[in-house]
Amino acid sequence: MKKKTSSGFSRRKFIATASAAIALPLILPGYATGFTRRPRPSNRINLGVIGWGLQGPPNTKSFLALNDCQVVAACDLDKNYLQDAVDTINDYYQNTDCKAYHDYRELLASDEIDAVMIAVPDHWHELVATEAARQNKDIYGEKPLAQTITEQQAIVRAVQQNKIIWQTGSWQRSQAIFRKAAEIVRNGLIGEVLRVEVGLPAGHNDLTQTAPELLRRLAPLGIDDLAAVRPGTPAWNIAVTKPPAELDYETWIGPSKMEPYISQRIHRNWRWNYNTGGGQLMDWVGHHADIAHWGLGFDNSGPSEIEGHGDFPAADALWNTCTKYRIELKYPQNITMTIAGGYDDINLGVKWIGTDGWVWVNRGGFDASNPAWKIGKSLPEELRKVKLYESANHQRNFLDCVKSRQPTITPVETAHHSTIPGHLGLISMLTGRKINWDAASEKIIGNPEAIRLLTRAYRAPWQMS
Ligand SMILES: NC(=O)c1ccc[n+]([C@@H]2O[C@H](COP(=O)([O-])OP(=O)(O)OC[C@H]3O[C@@H](n4cnc5c(N)ncnc54)[C@H](O)[C@@H]3O)[C@@H](O)[C@H]2O)c1
Repeated sequence: MKKKTSSGFSRRKFIATASAAIALPLILPGYATGFTRRPRPSNRINLGVIGWGLQGPPNTKSFLALNDCQVVAACDLDKNYLQDAVDTINDYYQNTDCKAYHDYRELLASDEIDAVMIAVPDHWHELVATEAARQNKDIYGEKPLAQTITEQQAIVRAVQQNKIIWQTGSWQRSQAIFRKAAEIVRNGLIGEVLRVEVGLPAGHNDLTQTAPELLRRLAPLGIDDLAAVRPGTPAWNIAVTKPPAELDYETWIGPSKMEPYISQRIHRNWRWNYNTGGGQLMDWVGHHADIAHWGLGFDNSGPSEIEGHGDFPAADALWNTCTKYRIELKYPQNITMTIAGGYDDINLGVKWIGTDGWVWVNRGGFDASNPAWKIGKSLPEELRKVKLYESANHQRNFLDCVKSRQPTITPVETAHHSTIPGHLGLISMLTGRKINWDAASEKIIGNPEAIRLLTRAYRAPWQMS
């Protein structure tokens, strides 16, 4: 639908132009087309989904509910997950049309597909997203944008060069409560902002509930803590197993360092291993630091000084991501920010503190120094001199923007800047030094050891763009 024609127009643009010329709405109502669930094929956005783990299904189900899009293909490296994806999609449409792919590059090469939803682990984001952009697919991609800042820059470049519409899975921006909090700050109601507190979860969260099973196998060794599972120990030898037949583990590890298969490090729990994820900090920074930046108007800027301290398990532990962390950031506008996990003085969510008051927001929580701000989902109109981008449904907003070619509520540049504080905080913690960051040129000043951590080596044959 979106492939370039010889005249340089995309097919999608041609349809929009043709519809406009005869003054018809681009999407005809169901009663006019004779379809109740699906619009006419020429007006549908054909979507492929890549990654069917924790987040792939809810994202996809939201797209299934939107009748100007058709989910036509699914891809996963785990045969069981792939089958579940195909079954879910076919059950919804009551047909057998959904195509199944093992290799995301084959799905992306399909001319039938206009857009993709990508929900693969963080260590795969750069390769899948840049290939999708090269193949001219619009992208609904997950946070954090990528595992390192250099990979994020590659995605931003590919999206910009190919004029791709990008939506990040930072869906909090499509919730009225977060917009209200950000608008309170942007409208100066708390006065001049002095400080922002961003509270994120700490520790490790066994998202597959499989740690007890491993601990049962380790019990004969007298081990009751996964921290004892380290290479070279008997516990490690018990934890390592053959990958299950349904999973293509070699490809799943992809560009990351090859490691023996341990099921507690794979689906969902890859987050707790720096080889594939970034721990709680990087899992959440794309949600709450994203909202913090929204309130500050910093979607295209960033901090200048970053200093972090954290508690880390051994680098070779089964789950090695930091369990408690505190990052202090200075922004050039004389604003300080603390991003912390596991500290009682920093509540989960985002709190902006200004000269005249404060406001705090979290999923399901809102509080403010002025009780009047707590009333209603939105600020009263007279206070909304600055109105932030409004979206009531994150997937709806993506499809609307695919059609209008206007930016989504969380474009790729926003995703990039929202996660930079987390990446730099982690680098500061790992190097034990304060980072001086030039946000305009996106460079660490001095500190070669920290500069090296802006990127990572890819395992052959994978190559970063
Ligand atoms: N926006 C949110 O609220 C939210 C919530 C959870 C996760 N996420 C993000 O979604 C992404 C996926 O996380 P998850 O928790 O669903 O992980 P997951 O491990 O549960 O699922 C990932 C799936 O991708 C598959 N996969 C891995 N590499 C692949 C490849 N190269 N090609 C095709 N399939 C591949 C895996 O087999 C697995 O089924 C992450 O970036 C995560 O940060 C976002």
